[in-house]
Amino acid sequence: MAVGKMEGCGKATLKLEIGGAAPKEVELPVYCGTEGPSVVDVRGLYREAGVFTHDPGFFSTSSCASAITFIDGEEGILRHRGYDIQDLADNCTYLEVCYLLMYGELPNEKEYQEFAHKITYHTMVHEQINFLLRGFPRRAHPMAILVGSVASLSAFYHDSLDIFDEKQRDLASIRMLAKMPTLTAMAHKYSLGQPFVYPRNDLDYTSNFLHMMFATPCEEYKVSDVAARAMNKLLILHADHEQNASTSTVRLASSSQANPFACIGAGISCLWGPAHGGANEAVIDMLEEIGDVSNIPEFINRAKDKEDPFRLMGFGHRVYKNYDPRAAVLKLSCDEVLEEVGVTNSPKLQIAKELERIALEDEYFVERKLFPNVDFYSGIIYEALHIPVELYTGLFAMARTAGWVAQWREMISDPEQKIGRPRQIYTGEPRRDFVPMKKR
Ligand code: ACO
Repeated sequence: MAVGKMEGCGKATLKLEIGGAAPKEVELPVYCGTEGPSVVDVRGLYREAGVFTHDPGFFSTSSCASAITFIDGEEGILRHRGYDIQDLADNCTYLEVCYLLMYGELPNEKEYQEFAHKITYHTMVHEQINFLLRGFPRRAHPMAILVGSVASLSAFYHDSLDIFDEKQRDLASIRMLAKMPTLTAMAHKYSLGQPFVYPRNDLDYTSNFLHMMFATPCEEYKVSDVAARAMNKLLILHADHEQNASTSTVRLASSSQANPFACIGAGISCLWGPAHGGANEAVIDMLEEIGDVSNIPEFINRAKDKEDPFRLMGFGHRVYKNYDPRAAVLKLSCDEVLEEVGVTNSPKLQIAKELERIALEDEYFVERKLFPNVDFYSGIIYEALHIPVELYTGLFAMARTAGWVAQWREMISDPEQKIGRPRQIYTGEPRRDFVPMKKR
């Protein structure tokens, strides 16, 4: 099976018996990818049989063909362009992974240097953006600032807006990757009331971000190697995750050929929700609320109580019905990072580990195959690195920009791409006569 191709590998026959009408059989093509379940192509179904398929949460619906990321949720496998996430997290820089996601191959030395150079020389944002940020209240959530500031890039970079021109598409991609750390750090500095710190071209991607986050004009700031390494790993683990809610949002927004920066802004908005990227912030709030290992049973019971809206944050996943491989890497990383930064006996880590142990033995979680996801341990590492909790989802957005950009590029160059336009089952009033206001 060729990479990047969806090949016909069979047919599905659908027998429809609707109402009292005579049964009807419809033959639908089946396509196979290189790995994972095959798909039944239902595009001709309405034409052939006059019915739609109904799948509001996309439980059984593939929305596109993609050669970027493979997930096997039952086995707990995540691969980018064929490489296991663990190998990438252990051996690569985040920019190497960005290159891999965007261009399909790991870069050689020369390709890497050129790519890193381009990114480095686009990290500064237009000076007007400083003024845009100043319009936000100081207490604004960093995600609100990111949604606004990233979408506002669409007003500045007119030479990278022709999405059908490969060079402009590349330039827009580079700009997005390069400017996200700058905007994220600016959102943080703004909330503190500290001056923005400009990017430094002598630092690598991750160290530059940490410098913009923590340096002040008053004294020399040395980026810690431990922090840079941990941040690099966190960025890689969050870089892409196939057609998750925010990526699908970016794809749907872009399917109308909209401005790429605005489409990434749409993705950031979606990511903000606590059922998606906002969960990392919610996990820390939850661990704080639990407060002590002795209170865990009470919270487990609340999570199981259908009358109580409380859920174990950082637990469960639409696709993983096994341990999220990213959470496995982060759990190990938690111990290493906390030890290296000298945090011994972190109460939050203790509560998290005990919570995981109890939940994984509890019938409710076992039956539903609910395991820790990537957000369960990431917050504990961010906290050890002195990242404020409100910025956790912003860091997720910064990392996921790689995936959004790669998926956007793939979509724009896909000859099968069409505007995304789901259908619905109408359950409202049938036609009725208009009643003038005086008679209502
Ligand atoms: N705590 C308690 N019960 C849960 C949890 C949880 N965290 N997650 C799912 N369940 C239960 C549901 O109540 C449901 O039970 P039921 O069958 O008795 O009704 C069952 O497990 C299936 O859950 P759904 O919500 O139907 O599953 P879905 O695939 O729609 O949701 C989601 C997945 C949103 C991630 C969910 O597990 C959740 O809300 N988790 C907590 C938030 C979170 O950690 N989000 C981050 C996801 S990863 C990411 O975006 C990076």
